[in-house]
Amino acid sequence: MFPEPTYTQRRAALCSALDGGLVLLLGNSESPMNYADNCHRFRQDSTFLYFFGLDQPDLAAVIDTDVGTATVFGDELTIDDIVWTGGLPTIAARAAACGVTETLPTADLPGVLARARAAGRAIHFLPPYRAANKLKLMDLLGIAPGEAGARASRPLIEAVVAQRSVKAPEEIEQIERAVDVTIAMHLAAMRMVRPGVSERAIAAEVTRVAEAAGCRLSYPVIATVRGEVLHNHHHDGMLESGDLFLLDAGAEGPLGYAADLSSTVPVDPDFTPRQRLIYDLSLKAYHAAVDALGPGVPNRDVHFAAARVIAEGMKGLGLMKGDTEEAVAAGAHAMFFPCGVGHMMGLDVHDMEDLGEAFVGYDGRPRSTQFGLKSLRLARPLQPGFVLTVEPGIYFIPQLMDAWRASGHCAEFLDFDELDKWRDFGGIRNEENWLITPDGKRRLGEPKPLTADEIAGVRDQPR
Ligand code: GLY
Ligand code: MN
Repeated sequence: MFPEPTYTQRRAALCSALDGGLVLLLGNSESPMNYADNCHRFRQDSTFLYFFGLDQPDLAAVIDTDVGTATVFGDELTIDDIVWTGGLPTIAARAAACGVTETLPTADLPGVLARARAAGRAIHFLPPYRAANKLKLMDLLGIAPGEAGARASRPLIEAVVAQRSVKAPEEIEQIERAVDVTIAMHLAAMRMVRPGVSERAIAAEVTRVAEAAGCRLSYPVIATVRGEVLHNHHHDGMLESGDLFLLDAGAEGPLGYAADLSSTVPVDPDFTPRQRLIYDLSLKAYHAAVDALGPGVPNRDVHFAAARVIAEGMKGLGLMKGDTEEAVAAGAHAMFFPCGVGHMMGLDVHDMEDLGEAFVGYDGRPRSTQFGLKSLRLARPLQPGFVLTVEPGIYFIPQLMDAWRASGHCAEFLDFDELDKWRDFGGIRNEENWLITPDGKRRLGEPKPLTADEIAGVRDQPR
């Protein structure tokens, strides 16, 4: 946990941002894998962590924004529990560590909420993303599970997004530590890459490096020779000569802060000339996006800076044609870059995605429905203290080529016959994590090998 004043100040800021009422924050419960006592690793809700730092299942909290007090609800361990868990600090002792002096049993929560409702006070809650918390809201507030998202408090969502979007120095330090562990994960993987190694072996090593450093994974590892499958979580392939290997893996630090890096390397010691062309183009797009970053710059512009470079490069290769600006406006570049340039990162790898990307990335406005652009999670102007990923990629997706050829989509900007020659190329992505500063930006963590020469240098080192 951070020192106690961090949590007291965060809750005070939340109270000032709201116009009265109670805030009900539900922590997460254990999530069974196949029976009640055999659970997935516990992950606390990120907003609960942000305001209370208590990393323990089955807690809830109420913040009274009119008087500025907070109560933590939870049940002490019984002797039956302690036989299995060992002795643990009491809820009162844990709550004291985040500056909360009032704790009550879980059974008291319905009464507290009922009295507040009877007095006509607002009860603000966030959209639940776990079924268990939807059911809890039904029990506590009588809201049907299917309606809980729509009935969530917009003022609370906006206040939490405003607070969590701007990272404090102690948060940046946590993120940067997670980034450095993540770089060690990527270096370990790069040193293993060669023909005959399995994706599984690399995924296992990447996970080991994270765990050995006291971290966990911030999302499931992508370790694949099929980089064109954007979220490819299968690890059953073998690395073969001529392949590209893409790793997208990040550590989550002990306080819950995430890192998210991607690297692409050749399975052979060097890229083929064709791979090198696309790799260098992807780096050019990456640097164009990074150059565009800065306070006040809409991340939408950062996205288009990368998109333009990719479209220009594809024209040079004869895969695209026509006016670049018109092609990008029509979304033709999304044949190669069908996703967004990056996303917010913090206590969640896609920070606050549970609160709604309209609020996190679009200031509450709807986003584009155009293929490609609709997957841009963060479009609004960047502010000092924002931490985000920059991850333009170039992907050759045979199914997308066939679908667009059949429908004629963007046919004026694409040469489908030329594209067919690249069906088996795969995909490339590089990704780093950036902080927006008052006068620009700063890459978080140590530099990661990016150029072909830097990658070759890492692979020459002994394992
Ligand atoms: N690292 C996975 C993602 O950004 O979606
Ligand atoms: Mn990412």
